[in-house]
Amino acid sequence: MKLDVCFSPDLLPCYDLLGKVVVVVDILRATSTIVTALGEGVTHVFPVASLEECAAYGQQQGCLTAAERDGLPAPGFDLGNSPFGFLTAGRPFAGRALSISTTNGTAALRRSLAAEAVVCGAFLNLEAVAGFLRQQHRDALVVCAGWKGQFCLEDTVFAGALATRLASEFDVASSDATLAALHLWQQAEADLPAYLLQSAHVRRLNSLEASHDFNFCLRLDAYDVLPIWQHDRLVRF
Ligand code: MLT
Repeated sequence: MKLDVCFSPDLLPCYDLLGKVVVVVDILRATSTIVTALGEGVTHVFPVASLEECAAYGQQQGCLTAAERDGLPAPGFDLGNSPFGFLTAGRPFAGRALSISTTNGTAALRRSLAAEAVVCGAFLNLEAVAGFLRQQHRDALVVCAGWKGQFCLEDTVFAGALATRLASEFDVASSDATLAALHLWQQAEADLPAYLLQSAHVRRLNSLEASHDFNFCLRLDAYDVLPIWQHDRLVRF
């Protein structure tokens, strides 16, 4: 089994997704938020590319709605794209469905659906993702959401962390992209927050006063939750 890495959804035409498991990752913050939402009692998640679709799910299905553009909460929705939105005391959103639209992560997920299976990865659920891939016995592709089509450091460092966990079961050496991700993780693993302070999106979020999201999203294995695509939504595996 081979583990490969796609640095941007715009590179997806270079990959054959048929028969593969895709791990969509958007550390800051879509997949971190989705993992947290399901871990805190949300029943299922509709990831959508447009704000209009997000609002429509809210009206038609009574979903909780979360939307973000350029790192800021989009006006007119219940929540933005911070995992802290689901950490409210009393878990008021437990038992609710969620529709969510973000700048990068939800579009990356929708563009990966030709794969055999699609799951959401984050540092928060790294081992849950690794365990799933081990049992699938399929080639896997990490799809990094990036930033507006561009490479982003944190998503690729995650891919390196995942490749490190799977190195004894997967071929992580025959793809230059996976090798690059591994090397980035080797640079970062000693002090992940310090290393990722270099990330453009971290600097962007800090300027938006969302730095507390940064530290939360870097917590390894905080949730044993695996969001998996099923029919038309993400559910807990
Ligand atoms: C996303 O999650 O799509 C983006 O990376 C933007 C963000 O939440 O800051």
